[in-house]
Amino acid sequence: MKLGPLQVAAGTVALRPIRLRDAGEWSKARLHDRSHLEKWEPSAPGSWADRNAFLSWPSQWAALRSLARRGQCLPFAITVDGAFAGQITVGNVIRASLRSAWVGYWVSSKIVRGGVATAAVALVADHVFTVGGLHRLEATVRPENTPSLRVLAKAGFREEGLFRRYLDVAGGWRDHLCFAITSEEIGDGLVPRLVASGRAEYADH
Ligand SMILES: CC(C)(COP(=O)(O)OP(=O)(O)OC[C@H]1O[C@@H](n2cnc3c(N)ncnc32)[C@H](O)[C@@H]1OP(=O)(O)O)[C@@H](O)C(=O)NCCC(=O)NCCS
Repeated sequence: MKLGPLQVAAGTVALRPIRLRDAGEWSKARLHDRSHLEKWEPSAPGSWADRNAFLSWPSQWAALRSLARRGQCLPFAITVDGAFAGQITVGNVIRASLRSAWVGYWVSSKIVRGGVATAAVALVADHVFTVGGLHRLEATVRPENTPSLRVLAKAGFREEGLFRRYLDVAGGWRDHLCFAITSEEIGDGLVPRLVASGRAEYADH
């Protein structure tokens, strides 16, 4: 399934399922961007170099794909002008009377501040509230992460509160602000709203 494309300052943004053959571009970007990414991402065993090596992608891809097949996760690659530029993942999809999930994302440092993450969040949110049948989408962000706070504000998420010592990130239990949006709040959709605000344009397929 492909979502988009949307035209933003950085280029043409689209989302597609992650692929096994993303290994090279994924690893290259993540090894280059350690200082850009590590301080915001969950702690994990092993060195950054090992965890983000070419050979570590197949197991991560397989784990995400297996969750996706069970309907628990939607793992997308973000592309800009057709090239791999980051990831956006809808995780912990719970159905029944909760119908909720979280969204997480990163983009290559080479294309930041160009509207890519905001477009990706809007595309994914509209998808989960329509085709996906969810009611709530949430995102947790460290209060120090100004760019990510800005992404969620531009996309239309609402701040709900502070989770103390919520997540083990960069080697310590870090406070996180919780943001959320529910289906009642999306109106005609976050993408149309982004386009109306002049932050994105519809692009040709
Ligand atoms: C957070 C992240 C995904 C944003 O991606 P992006 O494509 O640059 O996002 P956008 O361009 O849509 O929006 C970023 C906004 O933050 C602003 N911004 C970026 N750096 C900033 C800074 N240091 N101080 C203040 N504002 C900043 C940009 O100007 C832009 O706002 P604007 O459109 O009002 O000018 C990217 O920086 C990233 O991958 N960071 C590392 C991983 C991460 O933090 N993931 C999220 C974890 S919750």
